[in-house]
Amino acid sequence: MTLDIRAFLFDLDGVITDTAEFHYLSWKRLCEEEGIPFTREDNDQLRGVSRRESLNRILKARAIDEATAQAWMDRKQGYYLQYLDTITPDMALPGVRDLLLEAKSLGIKRAVASASKNAKPALEKLELIDLFDAIGDGYSVVHTKPAPDLFIWTAGRLDITPTQGIVFEDAEAGIDAALKGGFWTIGLGSADVSRAHVRLPNLAGARVGDLLAKLSEPSLT
Ligand code: BG6
Ligand code: MG
Repeated sequence: MTLDIRAFLFDLDGVITDTAEFHYLSWKRLCEEEGIPFTREDNDQLRGVSRRESLNRILKARAIDEATAQAWMDRKQGYYLQYLDTITPDMALPGVRDLLLEAKSLGIKRAVASASKNAKPALEKLELIDLFDAIGDGYSVVHTKPAPDLFIWTAGRLDITPTQGIVFEDAEAGIDAALKGGFWTIGLGSADVSRAHVRLPNLAGARVGDLLAKLSEPSLT
């Protein structure tokens, strides 16, 4: 089967840059201040999900009132902004910039589809924002990953159907969202992306032709 790929849709945190680590350190600081246990394994469950859902997962069965929840999310965001301020263009993950430039040269559209409300400032700090045709972020839809809404919203902005898009994700919630939406998926990194069509450790050395060839393998189409 010949694929008709017209766009690449990238998650941000953990795919374009390692801000997943900044989210971890920010939640960790809040949890230490509030006496809540929080490990790196706990943090893997937060990949791709919204700020509010992250707090719910951190709290587990613990109940707090709405005003406290809001204050804790604001405090975590304050810590995160301090990290965001340290982002420089060399902090794009290996291979990302080259893949974006190659896709552009081949006429493949590029978008970000991130649950984060900090996606645009992060892309500005990375000096990558001009390479994208559309940006879906934590303000774009009500139901974020693992619902497919954000990817579908972003595909609409790109004027493509889901089967014309490849989603790059490092999170289980993100792969599930993309699959539900009907997109092709490339899972990156060490979290559970086992349901992705293709899995890679990272995008270092990734070339458009190789990615399309992997997705065209008969077992997948
Ligand atoms: C996702 C991250 O991209 O954005 C999650 O993987 C994070 O860890 C979510 O919770 C929301 O981010 P923000 O920046 O709006 O708090
Ligand atoms: Mg991610």
